Amino acid sequence: MRILSGVKPTGRPHLGNYFGAIRQFVDLQNKGKGYYFVADLHALDEIRDSARLRQLSLDVTIDYLAFGLDPEKAVIWRQSDVPETSELQWILGSVTPMALLQRGHAYKDAVAKDKLIDFGLFAYPVLMAADILLYLPDGVPVGKDQIQHIEITRDIATKFNQTYCPDFDPQTGEGGVLKLPEGITLDDTAIVPGTDGQKMSKSYGNTIAPFDDDKPLKKSVMRVVTDSTALEDPKDPDTCNVYALLKLFLTPDELADVRKQYEAGGVGYGHFKTLLLDKIHETFDEMREKRRMFENDPAQVEKILADGTQRARETASQVLGDVKKACGLS
Ligand code: ADP
Ligand code: TRP
Repeated sequence: MRILSGVKPTGRPHLGNYFGAIRQFVDLQNKGKGYYFVADLHALDEIRDSARLRQLSLDVTIDYLAFGLDPEKAVIWRQSDVPETSELQWILGSVTPMALLQRGHAYKDAVAKDKLIDFGLFAYPVLMAADILLYLPDGVPVGKDQIQHIEITRDIATKFNQTYCPDFDPQTGEGGVLKLPEGITLDDTAIVPGTDGQKMSKSYGNTIAPFDDDKPLKKSVMRVVTDSTALEDPKDPDTCNVYALLKLFLTPDELADVRKQYEAGGVGYGHFKTLLLDKIHETFDEMREKRRMFENDPAQVEKILADGTQRARETASQVLGDVKKACGLS
């Protein structure tokens, strides 16, 4: 089983990124061959400062390593170091209907918000299809919001195979040059809420980032919005953002106990927030330590990336070669 995924270098990872996506990367590297990259080409749309993009790309690599990706098991690289990606994107773009991209959530959202839309945003799903298809993965672990991109990837792969591979059978997906991948999502952490109760996201400024220093980390936990129920009164766990976040960390027994405390009253939200902060430290402190170690040794991180690039390109150049042969470019 071959697994592939990527993260955009656009800022510090937060609990949504970890529980929605990265945690699966770490689990899956033990179950098959993992391919994980830093999606810097995808970030160009958002980060328009060269030094910052370079730094953020290194940061995501360090985050990967700190969260537990192991370069002995998984291939880790920076997307732009594999030029085959951009080449495949163009070829795939040539069989991608405009209408397919016009249905993309991110594009539709940008239209609805009257944003200035560039070609990069519109073509984002084609680049993502190239990232994926270049490595013939079986599964792509992502958060639920990315499932549409996986479906578009399957549509584009099907279109390419139908156009250029006479033996391709769209029913079984067999006989094509490009393999149709499956999205892998975790049901129990569909969407992690942010400090304001909306989906946790860098773009909403409502994140809790476990690699923040102690002070800002505590501040973000204390900022979680709660209602004004008095300390002595019973509280409803099912509408409480702190409880929703505690669910990510507690065992079923611990959770049942906390639920009783909510329902009995006499315990304030501050107490539950402190419990949440303790659990964050318990879960992430060792990873924070590991992160500091890699941060102090950027040469080692670059070496891991260089090695990953070489391994990634072995597969990428082979698949691109097959694609070019299939469509008459070589
Ligand atoms: P952001 O919304 O903060 O910009 P990204 O779009 O970079 O996050 O997401 C990176 C990965 O983390 C994706 O696979 C995405 O589905 C997942 N993810 C992001 N936010 C959440 C969330 N609140 N809950 C679950 N998964 C999330
Ligand atoms: N679009 C993904 C996100 O916003 C990041 C990404 C880029 C990705 N290319 C990918 C994820 C390929 C999985 C596979 O989170």
